[in-house]
Amino acid sequence: MKKIKLFIASSLDGYIARDNGSIDWLVTDGDYGFSQFYDSIDTIIMGRKTYDKVLESGKYPHTDKKSYVLSQNPRVRRSSQHVEFIYADVIVFIKKHLIQSKGKDIWLVGGSDIISIFLNADLVDEVILSIHPIILAKGIPLFKNIQRQVILKLLKSIPFDNGLIQMHYHIDHQ
Ligand SMILES: NC(=O)c1ccc[n+]([C@@H]2O[C@H](COP(=O)([O-])OP(=O)(O)OC[C@H]3O[C@@H](n4cnc5c(N)ncnc54)[C@H](OP(=O)(O)O)[C@@H]3O)[C@@H](O)[C@H]2O)c1
Repeated sequence: MKKIKLFIASSLDGYIARDNGSIDWLVTDGDYGFSQFYDSIDTIIMGRKTYDKVLESGKYPHTDKKSYVLSQNPRVRRSSQHVEFIYADVIVFIKKHLIQSKGKDIWLVGGSDIISIFLNADLVDEVILSIHPIILAKGIPLFKNIQRQVILKLLKSIPFDNGLIQMHYHIDHQ
């Protein structure tokens, strides 16, 4: 079965973006394990707001993977060659079709709306969290509307010279 891996960056005070969605505070001078992680996945899942943010910087970058964007607005049909919009029964779709399929793992990109859906359904296998050395004071939180306790097992933590710390967690399903 494919694993679902949340690979994400947050501020020290737990925000993934500024209130306006900006991620201009992310340290982008290095790879921080992303290339190796990217090689381990063949499928990408993200919320519609994150997708729109990605598109702001130009063309959609992940054309070598199969991407799914979650939305609750079926009136806007936006699927394209590399990106499929999913409008209903997200959990059923993930369990029945995605996890069972052969191949590499799944990158759960975020944002927090989508993270909560997956954590509440006990669908996340790994969390790779890069905490950036900044306090944003406000913004879009990493976790919101989580409705159950989740215990994580720390597999490793990697400190970088610039103050970024990356934690690799495993989640046992309940
Ligand atoms: N720091 C990082 O590493 C990182 C990673 C990812 C994202 N981000 C940032 O996070 C921000 C976006 O996060 P967000 O939490 O506001 O939004 P999001 O999770 O990216 O997307 C929210 C959208 O998902 C859809 N949705 C919500 N619940 C759903 C459900 N039950 N079924 C199907 N679709 C559902 C809705 O789309 P519709 O409105 O179309 O119905 C909703 O507006 C962006 O600024 C992005 O840059 C940062």
